[in-house]
Amino acid sequence: MRKKVDFLVIGSGIAGLSYALKVGDYGTVCIVSKTKADETSTRLAQGGIAAVMYTPDTYEKHIQDTLIAGDNLCNEKIVRMAITESTNRIKELIDWGTNFDKTKSGKFDLGKEGGHSEKRVLHHKDNTGYEIERALLDRARKHPNIEIFENHFTIDLITQHHLGDEINRRSKNITCYGAYVLNPETNEICTVISRITLVATGGAGNVYATTTNPAIASGDGIAMAYRAKCQIENMEFIQFHPTSLYNPGEKPSFLITEALRGFGAVLKTIDDKEFMQKYDKRESLAPRDIVARAIDNEMKLRGDDHVFLDCRHLDSNELIQHFPNIYAKCLSIGVDMTKEMIPVVPGAHYICGGIKVNENGMTSVKNLYASGECSSTGLHGANRLASNSLLESLVFSHRASKISIMKFKSINFQENIPEWDTEGTVLNEEMVLITQSLKELQSIMTNYVGIVRSNLRLRRALKRLAIIYKETEELYQRSVLTTRICELRNLINVAFLVIKMAMARKESMGLHYSIDYPRMEEIKEKITDGINQGN
Ligand code: FAD
Ligand code: SIN
Repeated sequence: MRKKVDFLVIGSGIAGLSYALKVGDYGTVCIVSKTKADETSTRLAQGGIAAVMYTPDTYEKHIQDTLIAGDNLCNEKIVRMAITESTNRIKELIDWGTNFDKTKSGKFDLGKEGGHSEKRVLHHKDNTGYEIERALLDRARKHPNIEIFENHFTIDLITQHHLGDEINRRSKNITCYGAYVLNPETNEICTVISRITLVATGGAGNVYATTTNPAIASGDGIAMAYRAKCQIENMEFIQFHPTSLYNPGEKPSFLITEALRGFGAVLKTIDDKEFMQKYDKRESLAPRDIVARAIDNEMKLRGDDHVFLDCRHLDSNELIQHFPNIYAKCLSIGVDMTKEMIPVVPGAHYICGGIKVNENGMTSVKNLYASGECSSTGLHGANRLASNSLLESLVFSHRASKISIMKFKSINFQENIPEWDTEGTVLNEEMVLITQSLKELQSIMTNYVGIVRSNLRLRRALKRLAIIYKETEELYQRSVLTTRICELRNLINVAFLVIKMAMARKESMGLHYSIDYPRMEEIKEKITDGINQGN
């Protein structure tokens, strides 16, 4: 089966949909979503979307907060650009039908989260992402030029490699011609030929055992782009959200939004004692890397399985009104958060790195764009500021759409693309092989490449990963393709990139923390301690 479209969009979260809605006014669009179109990280977003709306907030304050959180690795030009465009992108989102909460005076009710010096997070109760996904998807479904392929899995991007040409990573002339897309129900693989392709496949949280990400987050887009010889960067910066609900066995882990700490909730150890003052003067509202490491440290020191988030001192009516879903979720596991503390643990939440793009979302491969969590724009640096990712998706999808609209008519469809080669694939793999390898992979990443790393742990992770890689490649070559084997292969690819980039970084910075490379402030602290002790 073959299909031709002007714009192929892989992903139906905020990045894919907002791009599709714009380019759809100019050409034909095919959106591919591997499950139901609304099964995305976007839909799960709770806290909201950061943007400068009113004084006393200013663009400069938001810029500085983003740069500080990013620990000197942000691209300042990109930060300035994205943040000064924030207000317009929010207005557009509202025009598309998104509702944000307002105060009685009619102004937006802005929330505050870790690392933000002002209240600037627009939200819709505690289910902002659900509201955004609803508005964008409603509009996309009604658009005459947009077709949505739900439950279709993109296997690989098509480049010269599929035409039989040898290409290497340094080649400047790699071009994307579309993608091979599997319909798992019929086992048919469709060759989708496009003038322009946007990868908007979201994150890769499932590379870890505990994650807030939905099951779709298996790093497919990053792995596909890597196989297409695209530049990938900053994969070592994995953000662990400090507070996912401690409820062993539940997947994904339910998020307890940072906005709750912005509302006044306080972190405590299980003996009801506050501890964040030992780690940062911003206490429970310090940036995420610091809070997640502090929790990890307290749990290890005390041998506890979780810490607590305490809301008992807050006004119960207001608490329930602002966080109705969290209240209901906690009640469902027997915790009344107005009277009892909520058990929480850090969970893998967001990948700061990914497919390297420029200020217009263009990748190093021609006619291939990326936006959203799978991309690396330079906005987040070594640690993303809370609620900056929905914003990033809107800004870069908007910019990518502008360039795409200008260029697409001058790009010809590539005609001589072969069908997907299924020769030699006879095996219907045993599911247990895949599930077991996935568990092993998640355990390697959780134990050796988690919040705190070391050279020894990373070396061990790479060795263990090599075994699973080899076994999975053999299986993949012989198997009839399924979503499960492709996802496993992609997750292994992502894990490899995270480990290799973590090994290459010989310093602790932002979300990459290695005990072999203490941070400058720790070295200074040790020297001061030494002097005070007369050494
Ligand atoms: P997603 O929304 O994840 O969409 C990915 C899409 O790609 C899906 O449609 C999927 O089906 C498709 N896809 C993937 N692989 C394939 C494939 N092989 N073939 C076909 N389709 C494929 N950020 C904020 O700024 N504020 C918040 O309050 C916030 N809260 C969050 C809460 C939770 C629980 C989580 C998990 C994340 C949160 N984030 C938040 C992060 C933010 O939600 C995500 O970074 C953002 O939504 C990513 O959007 P996206 O469009 O890039 O990807
Ligand atoms: C949250 O609500 O705490 C998540 C916000 C984010 O990940 O940006």
